Amino acid sequence: AQSAKESLYIVSQYAAAFFVKQLWETDEGKGIGLSYFKERGFREDILKKFEVGYSPDVWDALTQNATNAGHKLEFLESTGLSIKNDNGKIYDRFRGRVMFPIHNFTGRVIGFGGRTLKTDKNVPKYVNSPESEIYHKSNVLYGLFHAKKAIRDLDNCYLAEGYADVLSVHQAGIENVVASSGTSLTVEQIKLIGRFTQNITILFDGDAAGIKASLRGLDMILEEGLNVKIVSFPDGHDPDSYMHHVGAGAFKTYLENNRKDFILYKANVLLKDAGDDPIKRAGIIRDIVESIAKIPDQIKASVFIRESSNLLEIEESVLLSELNKIRSGKV
Ligand code: CTP
Ligand code: MN
Ligand code: MN
Ligand code: MN
Ligand code: MN
Repeated sequence: AQSAKESLYIVSQYAAAFFVKQLWETDEGKGIGLSYFKERGFREDILKKFEVGYSPDVWDALTQNATNAGHKLEFLESTGLSIKNDNGKIYDRFRGRVMFPIHNFTGRVIGFGGRTLKTDKNVPKYVNSPESEIYHKSNVLYGLFHAKKAIRDLDNCYLAEGYADVLSVHQAGIENVVASSGTSLTVEQIKLIGRFTQNITILFDGDAAGIKASLRGLDMILEEGLNVKIVSFPDGHDPDSYMHHVGAGAFKTYLENNRKDFILYKANVLLKDAGDDPIKRAGIIRDIVESIAKIPDQIKASVFIRESSNLLEIEESVLLSELNKIRSGKV
């Protein structure tokens, strides 16, 4: 008999195919799901490549279909696709949503993100598969299966926040992109990227949450010994909205021309808050040196100290002594 894990892969693949079929071949899927994707500007080839789908707005469409096809409820439940309520009634986790299947890096479906089509603020925008024997969120990067070859070839990985970002960046012809989707960035995810490249370019949302997440993310990346750059987006745009806003060609150019190293990025973000206040400005310098202190390679760190010295117009020796203080745990 096949292992329980194998059964979970099989039922997940079955569900992905079911959602795809709903999207392209049913009136509800075409009328609601497919037209939603088209209104957002997604091309059919991208939708097909990422195997996006649609879950019908019915209590137990998938559960019924899959069990009729011989799939065991047990496996539908342990992947979180089906849920049993307190009265023992079984229903689908994903209903009336556009579906993004999540693949592991060998290409097997391990989970899903489902986006609501409603604008009602009380409805969660995304519902995601729970952790399961085959889906460990902290170890998974959305899009890695489709990106890994390009990441290796181009020796860089763009890191975005969401499902739609990955699709849109691909649509712009840039295939070396993944997202941390459904969790905040983890050390395991950075190590996973590190198997393919040492260079990460963060493309987080241009809102307060995205900026905060990129500051946290860049420190984690430096700590893992990888190189990090950041592209930020104007006016609260995320990579997806910005790509559709300016078009594929201009988007590509934007990424190429707006890649900031982490020092410049931090300086820009923090200086905006500090204004002319000298105490706040001193705090920023310390903040930047704290990021540099996370870099395990001393030679690399000293290069960034020199850059900061030039950028912030502070003596290199002052920055170095600050760096040594932080390294020896005195600050
Ligand atoms: N996310 C989630 N649950 C939520 C909100 C967000 O899991 N309730 C995850 C999703 O993976 C989402 C990512 O965080 O893709 C980024 O969130 P957000 O920027 O709010 O969504 P977008 O990806 O921009 O989605 P869209 O463009 O469809 O609005
Ligand atoms: Mn896993
Ligand atoms: Mn966001
Ligand atoms: Mn977003
Ligand atoms: Mn978005």
